[in-house]
Amino acid sequence: MTRILPISDQGAVEAALEVLRDGKPVALPTETVYGLAADATNPEAITSIYETKGRPRFNPLISHVADIEMAKAQVSFSPLAEQLAATFWPGPLTLVLPLSETSTIHPLATAGLSTAAVRMPEGFSRQLIAGFGRPLAAPSANRSGRVSPTTAQHVADDLGGRIDLILDGGRCRVGLESTILAVDGAQLRLLRPGGIPVELIEEATGKPVERSPSQSTGDSIIAPGMLASHYAPNAGVRLDATEVGPGEAVIRFGGERLAGEDNAIAVLDLSPRGDLREAAANLFDMLKRADATGATGIAVAPIPDQGLGEAINDRLRRAAAPRP
Ligand code: TXA
Ligand code: MG
Repeated sequence: MTRILPISDQGAVEAALEVLRDGKPVALPTETVYGLAADATNPEAITSIYETKGRPRFNPLISHVADIEMAKAQVSFSPLAEQLAATFWPGPLTLVLPLSETSTIHPLATAGLSTAAVRMPEGFSRQLIAGFGRPLAAPSANRSGRVSPTTAQHVADDLGGRIDLILDGGRCRVGLESTILAVDGAQLRLLRPGGIPVELIEEATGKPVERSPSQSTGDSIIAPGMLASHYAPNAGVRLDATEVGPGEAVIRFGGERLAGEDNAIAVLDLSPRGDLREAAANLFDMLKRADATGATGIAVAPIPDQGLGEAINDRLRRAAAPRP
């Protein structure tokens, strides 16, 4: 049985701490997507995350921290990494940094790498980590390869019956996973576009962010586990659509109609007023809803590629990629 508790519930924090201390995972809201969180220092707890998700073990997890001291006990910060943390934490930025000698993150969480991905989330999840006193490893709370959850109901649909507890914090504010940045001394490499636009990082640091050439095609693993086919709905996804084919549902942007829309199974608009933040927050929910209509395919209109559009288009390309 999976319990769902609103985070406003008096006993929510204590209930979550109990499950975590027991070495088991809890699904919880973050500002990006719902995470499946467990003690990052406990090998059984981490194993249980991989098993619950059906996730390949070579794909390392992000360790979530409550404050900068907790982060510094785990990884080494260059001055540039310090600046990024000071600017963007708490928030949707994950930094990949060298493990420090005092690190207690279990190698199962880092897949044996000499680096760890760390992030300080906003709001309830951060308070919970502070209460737990140790970092929480947390991938998105979905079965591996599926669309990430942005509501407690999405988590229940995907993982109900497999976990003890889901904390319900409503809809996630950002709706896309964090931006992942490798900080190599003074060099910045984008491993995954996400909730913090690359332009903002370049503006804040005055440094260019290197995008790997394969980033745009998504056909190789950069952050290990950034598999091309991911976020896969059941229906096939067709990108840059300008007209609607038979049996298709439509996901469009900015109130612009596609040719033949009147015959579509459903029409969803990521942001009728053309706001990329609103579009990001709606993306995963609308992919799931379009899929649930039973449409044979999902036609997605072109989305601008600046700012958050880069992350939106990255997820859409993965949703549309050929399945293994
Ligand atoms: O917004 C988010 O980041 C959400 C919420 C729950 O915080 N989490 C999330 O986790 O998206 P996940 O497991 O779905 O994605 C983590 C990504 C993977 O692509 C993994 O390969 C990469 O981070 N990663 C983890 N550790 C790494 C490392 N040491 N070096 C490079 N990539 C790493
Ligand atoms: Mg994920």
